[in-house]
Amino acid sequence: MTYPAIRMHRARKSPQIRTFLAETSLQKNDFISPIFVNEKLEMRAPVQSMPGIFQESPLHLLNEVERRVKLGLNSFILFGIPKEKDEIASSAHQENGVIQTAIRSIKKYFPHTLLIADCCLCEYTSHAHCGVHKGGHLQNDETLEILKKTALSYADAGIDIIAPSGSMDGVIGALREVLDANGHEMVSLMSYAIKYASSFYGPFREAAGSSGLKGDRKHYQLQPAQKREALRDALLDVNEGADYLIVKPGLPYLDIIHSLKEKTLLPIVSYQVSGEYSMIKAAAEKGYLNEVDAFYETLISLKRAGSDFIISYYADEIAKRL
Ligand code: PBG
Repeated sequence: MTYPAIRMHRARKSPQIRTFLAETSLQKNDFISPIFVNEKLEMRAPVQSMPGIFQESPLHLLNEVERRVKLGLNSFILFGIPKEKDEIASSAHQENGVIQTAIRSIKKYFPHTLLIADCCLCEYTSHAHCGVHKGGHLQNDETLEILKKTALSYADAGIDIIAPSGSMDGVIGALREVLDANGHEMVSLMSYAIKYASSFYGPFREAAGSSGLKGDRKHYQLQPAQKREALRDALLDVNEGADYLIVKPGLPYLDIIHSLKEKTLLPIVSYQVSGEYSMIKAAAEKGYLNEVDAFYETLISLKRAGSDFIISYYADEIAKRL
């Protein structure tokens, strides 16, 4: 049968029919909401390159968590900006470091939240690389040793999930081993398994206080031309014991999310990164497009491609509308 017996417009006729037929939907539980905590701040400070986003002060942190919990958000990914930085990220693994303290206080007042700690050294190194960097090169295995200490200190503080984001080879296996050896078998690992060297991380550098970076991260993050290499990277992490897989950024890599979904049974998380957020914000500020509609469309595309969960800076605004 064809037109006129078949009319596709019947499936789009009214809001009721469109809602009824929707194959994909967004729920509050789909979202992981990022929080930046800056140890140096007494009051929260806006991130200029990300309109609507703040670095929280340790004092204001709980107010912000409460605000988001009231909107129905329950999962948070934490990024820390320490007072002190050095070449080897010593402040990343202190018992009373910025993230360790944040985990303890959020868990004390909001024990039902799900807390994920981004585990990377770029916020803690003076050179802003994601690990020990010598002679223009990242020292992968030396970096793993520091990441192990960092992950352990997060686990001791009560974290639920650790998300190593520095693209180190072997990091999932190394962290699984050290966590298990220290009685933290129940702490999960969310791997930034597929992480591209992307221009869309631009605004994050200000948000995370790591804008001093000289050079780039192309010698450890994936080049955008790759698909098979990306999937290979992810499958290695599955073998090393990852519990979740992240694809990052989101929108330019929908094909990767789709293919990964077919290759693994692990939950897939996509990360709508800072540049994806700020480009919609900037276009909306200029009146070029409708902000909420544009976010909704990009977020639903991430779900449709196969994401089970989405890390998004827009989570609170979407939650208000769900
Ligand atoms: C840290 C990290 C980055 C992001 C998340 N964790 C920056 C990078 O890898 O360069 C980017 C997130 C965003 O842009 O929103 N290693």
